[in-house]
Amino acid sequence: MDIAVIGTGYVGLVTGVCLSELGHQVTCIDIDERKVEMLENGKSPIYEDGLEELLVQNLQKGRVDFTTDYRKGLRNKQLVYLAVGTPQGDDGSADLTYIEAACRNIAENLENDTVIVTKSTVPVGTNEHIKETIEANLVHDVTINVASNPEFLRQGSAVHDTFHGDRIVIGSDDNEALVMLERVNEGFGLPIVKTDLRSAEMIKYASNAFLATKISFINEMANLSERIGANIDHVARGMGMDNRIGGSFLNAGIGYGGSCFPKDTRAIISIGKEADYDMPILENVVDANERQRVIIVEKLLTRFSSLNGKRVAVLGLAFKPNTDDMREAPSIEVTGKLIEAGAEVTAYDPVAADNAKTILPDQVRYAGSVEEALQHADIAIILTEWKEIKEFPLAGYRDRMNEAILFDGRNCFTLDEVRGSGVEYHSIGRPVVNGK
Ligand code: UDX
Repeated sequence: MDIAVIGTGYVGLVTGVCLSELGHQVTCIDIDERKVEMLENGKSPIYEDGLEELLVQNLQKGRVDFTTDYRKGLRNKQLVYLAVGTPQGDDGSADLTYIEAACRNIAENLENDTVIVTKSTVPVGTNEHIKETIEANLVHDVTINVASNPEFLRQGSAVHDTFHGDRIVIGSDDNEALVMLERVNEGFGLPIVKTDLRSAEMIKYASNAFLATKISFINEMANLSERIGANIDHVARGMGMDNRIGGSFLNAGIGYGGSCFPKDTRAIISIGKEADYDMPILENVVDANERQRVIIVEKLLTRFSSLNGKRVAVLGLAFKPNTDDMREAPSIEVTGKLIEAGAEVTAYDPVAADNAKTILPDQVRYAGSVEEALQHADIAIILTEWKEIKEFPLAGYRDRMNEAILFDGRNCFTLDEVRGSGVEYHSIGRPVVNGK
């Protein structure tokens, strides 16, 4: 099929490249000339496992191309995917500025009948608005239909998730559009859920809100476990073996970050407000997450009378491993609070350091390795469970730090591993090991 994808951000680019891998002919449209030029040369502007290889292969096969020109990009396309950003607006709702702009560009340049497929996460009812906006501004006499095809990709494994996800959701109030989308997606070989437009939009929010709830829930259980002498690892394992609960997304830590959960939970609360319906569960999920992000600093302040002049090594800055994304990363607040408390912070992240430099307080210094960050540090804190951080031997903390005191915000080590190591170890939802 001939497909256009508007927006070469994380969602659009992964979608476009993966659809071309299935054998579809894909043109990706973006207004950013620099990005388009990079992509034409086989360079991915984002760090995503396996993406650049697929991009290069499909460029060579002539199945994917890039343009800033809407007219050229939309020509003879049967499907047009909308994958522009929907950032969080000032009031917590999704900001639809980019969607509106893309709709106008589509309307002005579309010369044939097509189905508009929304990939971006948009409030329930937006697809109907998209249809109205495009129809009201169409220059040529063409017919459009709309469909919703939300993405469930995790950053860092987006390409893998596209081919191995649990399901594909497609929603439309037009049967022909549904049939077409089903055909396009058949190649992925995944179960397909077909539904109406509004339910598809709702599935995306409900899924992310549920996963965020699971994280805030396990964090609450962890905080309680800590106080009553239980171990959250064992609690989560015991809970997760019940199929109705499920074992994934039960890792206690310093809360969820990233471009989706924080934004989507706030957006669904705001959708609730518009529908005149309070959402007390989700409001508390959001509050609990905000509290969880700084829990590690509170632990530090309980352990030490003052952090003034303390040398703190922060290991991991990205909101999760295998990404350079710093959006809503707990490290932003944690480093801010440490600096505020007078600590001298040296941070290390294998990939996100460049992005971090533009966001974290200027006083933060950056190390080129775990070893360098730990050298002469008084306290170490793990904020992101990168493989190299998880696998860094505990003896290395003892050898390099002034005093080996580790606050692990991601429970990277088992308590058994820590016991004989001589490292004073504080984690989330588990007893302190080798504490004073
Ligand atoms: C998420 C959803 O998983 C995906 O389906 C959706 O399309 C976009 O949002 P992503 O933000 O890439 O994907 O990351 P994910 O791996 O889900 O983690 C989100 C956050 O939750 C991270 O900050 C992570 O550290 C945290 N998390 C996750 C936990 O604290 N505990 C867990 O058990 C799982």
